[in-house]
Amino acid sequence: MTAASTDSHAQAGAAASNASRRQILVTSALPYANGQIHIGHLVEYIQTDIWVRALRMHGHEVYYVGADDTHGTPIMLRAESEGITPKALIERVWKEHKRDFDSFGVSFDNYYSTDTEETRVLSEEIYGALKAAGLIEARDIEQAYDPVKEMFLPDRFIKGECPKCGAKDQYGDNCEVCGSTYQPTELVNPYSVVSGATPVRKTSTHYFFRLSDPRCENFLRSWVGGLAQPEATNKMREWLGEADEAKLADWDISRDAPYFGFEIPGAPGKYFYVWLDAPVGYYASFKNLADRLGLDFNAWIKQGSTTEQYHFIGKDILYFHTLFWPAMLEFSGHRTPTNVFAHGFLTVDGAKMSKSRGTFITAQSYIDTGLNPEWLRYYFAAKLNSTMEDLDLSLEDFQARVNSDLVGKYVNIASRAAGFLIKRFDGRIQASAMHHPLLGTLRTAIPQIAAHYEAREYGRALRQTMELADAVNAYVDTAKPWDQAKDPANAVALHETCSVSIEAFRLLSLALKPVLPQLARGVEAFLGIEPLTWADAGKPLSAEHRINAYQHLMTRVDPKQLEALLAANRDSLQATPSAAPADARKKAKDTKANEAKDGADQSDSISIDDFAKIDLRVAKIIDCKAVEGSDKLLQLTLDVGEEKTRNVFSGIKSAYRPEDLIGKLTVMVANLAPRKMKFGLSEGMVLAASAADEKAEPGLYVLEPHSGAKPGMRVK
Ligand code: MSP
Ligand code: ZN
Repeated sequence: MTAASTDSHAQAGAAASNASRRQILVTSALPYANGQIHIGHLVEYIQTDIWVRALRMHGHEVYYVGADDTHGTPIMLRAESEGITPKALIERVWKEHKRDFDSFGVSFDNYYSTDTEETRVLSEEIYGALKAAGLIEARDIEQAYDPVKEMFLPDRFIKGECPKCGAKDQYGDNCEVCGSTYQPTELVNPYSVVSGATPVRKTSTHYFFRLSDPRCENFLRSWVGGLAQPEATNKMREWLGEADEAKLADWDISRDAPYFGFEIPGAPGKYFYVWLDAPVGYYASFKNLADRLGLDFNAWIKQGSTTEQYHFIGKDILYFHTLFWPAMLEFSGHRTPTNVFAHGFLTVDGAKMSKSRGTFITAQSYIDTGLNPEWLRYYFAAKLNSTMEDLDLSLEDFQARVNSDLVGKYVNIASRAAGFLIKRFDGRIQASAMHHPLLGTLRTAIPQIAAHYEAREYGRALRQTMELADAVNAYVDTAKPWDQAKDPANAVALHETCSVSIEAFRLLSLALKPVLPQLARGVEAFLGIEPLTWADAGKPLSAEHRINAYQHLMTRVDPKQLEALLAANRDSLQATPSAAPADARKKAKDTKANEAKDGADQSDSISIDDFAKIDLRVAKIIDCKAVEGSDKLLQLTLDVGEEKTRNVFSGIKSAYRPEDLIGKLTVMVANLAPRKMKFGLSEGMVLAASAADEKAEPGLYVLEPHSGAKPGMRVK
């Protein structure tokens, strides 16, 4: 695994004076290495990145680190089902994640992996210290075991019939049909999702972190006082209970082989549970960076450190970050987090992200559809505040807001003023215009806006910025430069209007910079200025300064792009090598805090009109070949009665030899938005049947019409 520094501008900006220059380590949660980054994840990485950029603009010493969370059962099984090693899987996913973060301007100083030597050494150190402190205990527990696969089964890997309503294929904790909850042991006819075998009970020794020890409880009771969010404090108080309740349970930190992870020192066949080494991955990523930059790593992470440390996370993993992680750190001689900032969950158009509706939007599909990543950064920022409330992406609102705020209100200011300034005044600013009261208002607002960012009140920061943009537009509308330009006698007035506009635009760009870094770079080039920092609010453009010709800075959102985005994400049979099957998606959250599942909802029914939108056609398979580098896909050349043949990738390699399909007829979805895949463009989808649980009942069957059907015929 190679580490890479995303942005080398980390420490750019006006250095704050030594006394006020803070040292800050910031993290976002480490995404699991078995799935693609989607727009729900992006809420978090964009939120963190905006904060980091806003603090860098003060000149503080800020390091933002991340990594892939690579260990655990789901990743092990995922690799197995793809026929590759876990190492090969996490290597591939790391590259995909890195690419997505780069695309969205997430400026990690280091993006690393938990499957690294740094993580192993630090995990062992922390475990060793906890053990020496008497906080580790071995205990025998009984658990479900798959006798065929010879492995212990986490709850999410056991299915059976609901004890209440009898629905088949329900998970061990709740029934998706009748909604009742129960214990995994209550399932009727339980079976292992991995092998289909009936699980048995088996005893094994596990290692526990003794969170119930009074030392831990006392420490956590005092630590909770420093949490920034009242909702988080309340949650934690609930978990801690009343003073004499002793509510905290010990935490099971070991798993039995086979497991993809680190073996526990002195305990052969026992591995650290993924959630033990995952947060250690924050420090591992930072260690890797510190070694590269020559920083004193220990001065940052040992007890007594004067540096600051913040973790941005989703509300579903609060438990791990406010109980386990601080306790692990406290009792192993490390500093504890300065704060943990939790955000809510993203819904799209008011509902949970759904594959059937196409709202389970991957980062890659967003980029491939040609949407501007800064539109999403702006939209999320406008919706974000410092609480754990959920937020909604309404596609209509997205389009309206980006178009009206960014293009209509903001970018317009520059495009209206730049032309006159260049043509009539050689691109130079009128010095006296820099004293205009409107600019004074803007300059006073900048520190307030910077403070809103630091308080994670991005919505407020942007509302204030757009109010200022409104004021600037009102000023331009009153001054009417297009009229002033008609009479040479008004040259001084015109020069003032354009100079005020351009300086106002510079200040608005400064206010938006943490959210729109790419756009800010464009503005800096256009104005011919150094990278903007907060200190630049009070440094107006000078009369000697000359701006460059205006180049278009941002386009409007086209509704067609949004339709294409949904189409690209609508569930299809074209299993891309990294699209998780429904089961794997459900299993991905091998955590207790499992309230928020990203699984597709299957319950939607559609109208006949909806069905009529699908253009199903008979297709003749003219050619068919294997795809180099893919163990899933076949490449089909299809005749669907059009002038040109279609190229389609289909995930059916496991079931067919290419030569057996050539010459056969099948059915295809002909109006599916073309989809760019790693191996080329796929222009449709071939229909095939498979069992709901492909693991338990493998087999794939391509549909074939009765004889007599001709290529191009409609299927209705
Ligand atoms: N691997 C763990 C985190 C370990 S941190 C030491 C994990 N990974 S995750 O991939 O499931 O999620 C990564 C982050 O994305 C989490 O903070 C999670 O809350 C966040 N989100 C995942 N889906 C989300 C939404 N739909 N909306 C907002 N945030 C979401 O948990
Ligand atoms: Zn039921």
